[in-house]
Amino acid sequence: MTAANRGDDLTESQLPQAGRDAEHMQGHWVLARLGKRVLRPGGEKLTKRMLAHTPIAGKRVVEFAPGLGRTTRLILEAAPAGYTGVDRDEQVVGIIGPLAASVGGTCIEADASRTGLPDETADVVIGEAMLTMQSERGKRAIIGEAHRILKPGGLYAIHEMGLAPEDLHESVKESIRNDLARAIKVNARPLTADEWRALLESEGFEVLWHGVEPMALLKMRRNIADEGLAGVLRIMRNVLTHPDLRARVIEMRRVFNTYGDALTGIAFVVRRKD
Ligand SMILES: C[S@@+](CC[C@H](N)C(=O)[O-])C[C@H]1O[C@@H](n2cnc3c(N)ncnc32)[C@H](O)[C@@H]1O
Repeated sequence: MTAANRGDDLTESQLPQAGRDAEHMQGHWVLARLGKRVLRPGGEKLTKRMLAHTPIAGKRVVEFAPGLGRTTRLILEAAPAGYTGVDRDEQVVGIIGPLAASVGGTCIEADASRTGLPDETADVVIGEAMLTMQSERGKRAIIGEAHRILKPGGLYAIHEMGLAPEDLHESVKESIRNDLARAIKVNARPLTADEWRALLESEGFEVLWHGVEPMALLKMRRNIADEGLAGVLRIMRNVLTHPDLRARVIEMRRVFNTYGDALTGIAFVVRRKD
C-alpha cells in the first residue's frame, strides 16, 4: 500500500476534532492526530478477513462511519457498482467525499441511524468501530437502518469491540465500560460474541460468519502491520513531541492492558433475512 493510500497525506487540520484540546478529544481522534490511520480494534487483518466474506465487485455498497478511509480504499479497489459513505462528522465527509467521487460515489453527513437513503437499495452495508460507541438503543437504531436500506438477502458487515469469555461477570463488564469511557472519552459498550449475535438476529439478520482478533490497537506488532514501519516511526515521533497526547495514549494503553484478553476485536457478516 502506498503512503497516499494509507492516508499519510492527511494534514492535521483535515482531521476531526482538530481544534479540541487533547484532554477532551475522543480517543480515536487522539490516535489519528498522532498519525494512526487504522482505528478499529481488530486491525486491518480482521477487516480483510471480514471483507473476504463480503462480495463487493458489482455491488452497491454503503459504508457507515468511514473515518479516515482505509476500508473505503479497500472497498473501492474491489470495484463496487456504487459507493455511499455516511458519517456524522463533517471533516470525515471532507476526506471521504473526493475518494468516493473518484468512482462516481458520494459521502453524506448524516447519523447512521437516519441516513435518508431509500429503502432496499444497497447490496452491502459495512461499518467498523462505530456501533460499540452507541447505547443499546443507538446500536439497534443503526442495525435497523442497515436492515431498512439493504435489499432482502443483502449483507451487513461489522467490526467492533468484543468481550470474552461469554460468562464475564457483570461487574467486570461495568468496570470495562467505565474505564473505557474515562480513557477514550466515548461511552464504549462492547458486547460478547453471543450478545452481538443476539442483537443482530433480533433486528432481522442471520449470521453467515464471525471472526475474532486480539484487541491490539496500541501494540507494536499490530501497528507495524497496520501503519507500516515509516508510519510507526512517525507515530513515535509525534508521541515524543506531544506530551498532552502522550498522556492520553498512556492512559488508553493502561486500560487496554488491564483487561487483556477480556477485550477483543470481533467481526460479523450477516444477511438480511426477508
Ligand atoms: C473509531 S472511528 C472508526 C473509523 C473507521 N471506520 C475505522 O475503522 O478506521 C469512528 C467513526 O464513526 C463515526 N460515527 C460514530 N457514530 C456515528 C453515527 N451514529 N453515525 C455516523 N457516523 C458515526 C465517527 O464520526 C468516526 O468517523
